[in-house]
Amino acid sequence: MASVKVIGRDGGVSELAAMAGCPLMEALRDASTGVEGTCGGACSCGTCHVYVDAAWMDRLPAKSEDEQLMLDAIGELVPLKPGSRLSCQIPISAELEGLVVEIAPPL
Ligand code: FES
Repeated sequence: MASVKVIGRDGGVSELAAMAGCPLMEALRDASTGVEGTCGGACSCGTCHVYVDAAWMDRLPAKSEDEQLMLDAIGELVPLKPGSRLSCQIPISAELEGLVVEIAPPL
């Protein structure tokens, strides 16, 4: 498990316990944060977009080409930031204890 700090779309801050081995998207979706994960983690919907806190960017797996292409596509609809990631592409591990993410606006 890893505790993840979540900044909601309303600016509210909450913490959730995410199961190691599961994609961050599933923990955010199941906690009703507004993350939908419509494609189930196939990197093809963009509804799991989050802004990762700058301090954590280097500690996450690198973006795949598919993730970058999806981010480029949704960038026409919502603002992208340096910390923009698809949360379905971030597997939870104990090393991510304390991760801070902000939920991006809906598509
Ligand atoms: S769940 Fe669809 S892109 Fe992440």
